[in-house]
Amino acid sequence: MTDDDLIAAARKAAEQSYSPYSRFPVGAALRFADGSVTTGTNIENASYGLALCAETVAVAKAMAEGMRGGLEAVAVTGPGDMPITPCGRCRQVLNELAQLGGTDPEVLCVGPDAVQRVKLSALLPHAFGPASLT
Ligand code: THU
Repeated sequence: MTDDDLIAAARKAAEQSYSPYSRFPVGAALRFADGSVTTGTNIENASYGLALCAETVAVAKAMAEGMRGGLEAVAVTGPGDMPITPCGRCRQVLNELAQLGGTDPEVLCVGPDAVQRVKLSALLPHAFGPASLT
């Protein structure tokens, strides 16, 4: 799967966004070393603060299916004029899965005109993760 395919998968996932409060549909797609892809989208709640971000949903889906590493790339798409960079909580959630497999995934922050490519370690320097507890 190419990066363009991964971005397309994230956009497709955003079609299922449940975001009636923000009206800000976000899509995420995770690519693993074994070639598999897991997607997620944001899921909001009438209790606004309980919203689940697209990236967090994607990581939860992947881990619930047994993934414990091999995270190579992440694509994140949104509806706005700016590339979507994962929120702080999602950076931490992505870091957990990445550190388990010892990878530093590239995060494709997709905007309307360009894709900003940033390593997760650059988005979350000096990360606290599973290795910190040993
Ligand atoms: N959102 C995500 O899904 N991912 C992010 O990294 C940033 C924000 C969602 C949460 C909420 O449903 C909407 O975007 C507006 O903040």
